Amino acid sequence: MLIESYTLEDRPEQSDSHNGLELFDTTESTTLTDSYKRRFTYLRLSITDVCNFRCNYCLPDGYCHEGDKAHLSLDEIRTVAAAFAKAGTRKIRITGGEPTLRKDLPEIIRICKQTPGIEKVALTTNGYKLTKQIDELLDCGLDALNISMDSLRPETFQLITGHDKLDEIKQAMAMAFERGFTNIKINAVLMKEYNLGELQAFLDFVRDTPISLRFIEVMQTGDNQQFFNAQHVSGEVIQEQLIAQGWQPVMRDADAGPAKEFTHPDHQGRIGLIMPYSKNFCASCNRLRVASNGKLHLCLFGDSNIDLRPLLGQRDSDQLAAYLHQAVAGKKESHLLHDQETGLTRNLAMLGG
Ligand code: 5AD
Ligand code: SF4
Repeated sequence: MLIESYTLEDRPEQSDSHNGLELFDTTESTTLTDSYKRRFTYLRLSITDVCNFRCNYCLPDGYCHEGDKAHLSLDEIRTVAAAFAKAGTRKIRITGGEPTLRKDLPEIIRICKQTPGIEKVALTTNGYKLTKQIDELLDCGLDALNISMDSLRPETFQLITGHDKLDEIKQAMAMAFERGFTNIKINAVLMKEYNLGELQAFLDFVRDTPISLRFIEVMQTGDNQQFFNAQHVSGEVIQEQLIAQGWQPVMRDADAGPAKEFTHPDHQGRIGLIMPYSKNFCASCNRLRVASNGKLHLCLFGDSNIDLRPLLGQRDSDQLAAYLHQAVAGKKESHLLHDQETGLTRNLAMLGG
């Protein structure tokens, strides 16, 4: 395994020593880059795999505890954030499971924010406790918030997630807006029989709401094959309807995320489509993932991972940064979802999507 063959002598030359301090060059040359010339400036850091929702595409029977799942400690998170930052990461998204279930989430946001080199800290949440937490999270310096909202009908929302929380989540969004915070994205997993027919309601929602609402094609995971077969629908179905209604595709920056975005002159908000089954989806990949158990996943659907914990114990972010450069070289060109190969990912709660 990579981690065993790694020695300090293998470290790429990328730091200068000055008065005992390691001065890292944060120019492009130190940015994690794989053998397909993809640059990784974005870390999705899962801080727990526990979730209190039972989304039908993810954890239909609810979270089930398995052994050996101790989540990363604050010290370990500090080392991970510092190492990724030294390796060119500029944005950290905190994910779960459901990250707000960790009481030390505010401290985790602060740690990420205070890490030199990290410019943006985002959070993905199911919104369960958001009305109570939003103020504190924003006070910690959170830059961006993604909330899952698969339906705008309370009954359908409950059918999908197991919780009657839609109104409360909308209330939390309103609280964020009141504070002038508008960097909010809504995620809606697209499902044939649950929300495909709601497109018009979603479009109406973004008419006066200045957010980006993204439809994510449901992805097959190890656990949801039957559900996937019954519910998967291509985002192109939405795209056709958007174009027919005068929505225009937005030109994408080179380092834009995976969403294809559309705007409309009559709407304040945007619509995004995340289509992991579309051609060349992986060509623009800019992200790496660390699971809450300290495993580095080079791909959401990879068939292996790399345990970072042996390195985290030493709290040596320089060593870990150098190791990441070596590890990323092993990233494969593309996922194999088209061949129904979902890798290790039984559900996305394991890894934060
Ligand atoms: N397919 C697509 N999206 C999923 N998510 C969770 N499981 C799946 C899946 N199988 C979404 C969640 C959340 C984001 C992190 O990933 O709804 O919005
Ligand atoms: Fe739903 Fe996210 Fe929880 Fe999975 S991890 S059950 S998608 S809220």
